[in-house]
Amino acid sequence: MAEHERAACVIGWPVEHSRSPLIHKYWLAKYGIAGDYRREAVTAEDFPAFVRDLAARGYVGANVTLPHKEAALAVSEPDAQAQAVGAANTLWLENGRLRSTNTDVEGFLGNLDACVPGWDRGLRTAVVLGAGGAARAAVYGLRARNVGRIFVVNRTLEKAEALRAAFGERVYPHPWSRLAEALAPAGLLVNTTSLGMRGQPPLEIDIAPLGSRAVVCDLVYSPLRTALLAQAESHGLRTADGLGMLLHQAVRGFSLWFGMTPEVTPDLRALVERDLAGH
Ligand code: ATR
Repeated sequence: MAEHERAACVIGWPVEHSRSPLIHKYWLAKYGIAGDYRREAVTAEDFPAFVRDLAARGYVGANVTLPHKEAALAVSEPDAQAQAVGAANTLWLENGRLRSTNTDVEGFLGNLDACVPGWDRGLRTAVVLGAGGAARAAVYGLRARNVGRIFVVNRTLEKAEALRAAFGERVYPHPWSRLAEALAPAGLLVNTTSLGMRGQPPLEIDIAPLGSRAVVCDLVYSPLRTALLAQAESHGLRTADGLGMLLHQAVRGFSLWFGMTPEVTPDLRALVERDLAGH
């Protein structure tokens, strides 16, 4: 690495599957920035020491993936977004201080903005399936866009109730058995569970109760066209897929580390799609 080059990395265990290097290296090349982006396989035990020495290792920042997203919060100064979500996926150095944020929120919102412009205009009711980390990011984003009611439908009701405790009265916890009732008034359905992901059980729900103007968003991107999105399209509903969110969540990290805001383009999407198809 040349002295003047800025470098960032993705820290995970395992980290091989991460598409972040593909995305950030594409932008570095596209914008002619002399920088680098690498994978760093780091165990949970070694994680705190690794990020403490981030600058000494030659990094201006990092993405953090499984299993370090909660630990990242504890070893850095998180912004309000990361704090509310309870996990951080992006680290950067600010005047020698290690800061963190959670860009899944911007990824979720930015992808919807790009796929369905105006999706949040007058949106009164949304349904979020799942109550894990991804659901927390989605609920945070929906609250930021002033969605009136957010039904959180989850297998484990206590986890949905925890989201209400964290995000307030606009969150309505629902058991899976009341899904149809929640869908009827909803203008947006978001799947944040792992159901429908390659190697996981299918997501078997009937979205017929959704109105004809509803939008369906799946955070799963492998496969890209999930059964949920196929069902939504067969009903003529507008959709946003998980790959879009993956690309949009990368924007803020790149801009924090390399000083310019990159664009999510069809070319970049095609590149990552080809890579996903090969695995
Ligand atoms: P993430 O951080 O990606 O959101 P997570 O925190 O492990 O991952 O959350 C996974 C979500 O998928 C949870 O809402 C989980 O439901 P539970 O809270 O009941 O565990 C949901 N999920 C995973 N497997 C499921 C299954 N077989 N049936 C129903 N929900 C499932």
